[in-house]
Order: sequence, then structure tokens, then C-alpha cells
Amino acid sequence: MLCGPAGMMDALSPMWTEAGIAHRLKTERFAAAPRVEVPAGAAPSKVKLALVRSGRTVTTERSETLLEQLERAGERPANGCRMGICNTCLCRKRTGVVENIVTGELSSEPDEDIRLCVSRARTDIELTL
Ligand code: FES
Repeated sequence: MLCGPAGMMDALSPMWTEAGIAHRLKTERFAAAPRVEVPAGAAPSKVKLALVRSGRTVTTERSETLLEQLERAGERPANGCRMGICNTCLCRKRTGVVENIVTGELSSEPDEDIRLCVSRARTDIELTL
């Protein structure tokens, strides 16, 4: 069974072919979906992130993910993979519009769970942090 970084897998898998046992090699690859880039000017330059539990309001000027913005503001939200796979960063969004940077989908539903590591604010956001 071979699983790991793409470069390592690409370097090692020919060894099974060279040994004549390629049929015995099982591989598993993981990769994050490519990020969808928002054209300049499409994202707001400033958004407010209201954190319900802590009572803080964070104003951000960058179009980074919510996880990156919160960390920059000194918050420490739970996280793991930072690429939308593990759901460790799941957080309830009470209001606001977020963009999923993997799919490009916009979501404006109130009281929905979002992944901070793949969500970017498109409007002011209220989070239950
Ligand atoms: S940190 Fe894993 S999904 Fe966000």
C-alpha cells in the first residue's frame, strides 16, 4: 500500500513495475481541489466578523479565508487539514454571505455550518465563536 505526498508516490511506484509486481501495488492519493480565485475587486475590501461568544468584532481588509483572518486577529479557532477535508474548523454562521473558495459557491443561508478554512466573507459575517 503506497500513500503519501505526490512526489514520493511518483518516485516510488515505478519500483513495483521494475520488479514485475505492479499488480500488487495499491495506491491512495489525496489532494485538495484547486482554489477558485475571485477576480480583483469582486470581494469586498473590508468586512466585519462579529464573534458572538467572545463579543469581539474583527474588521478585516483582506480577502483571505475566515480561518486566516481570525488567526490574524489573534483568535485560535480549531482547525486541522486547512483544506476543507476534516471538518475540524466547522463553525456556525448566523448571518452573512460566504464564498466557498474551492467550489466558488456563494452561501447566504442563516444559521448554517461552514468550514472556516475554505470560506471567504463576501459580506459582514456573524459567527458563533
Ligand atoms: S481545517 Fe479541516 S476542514 Fe477546515
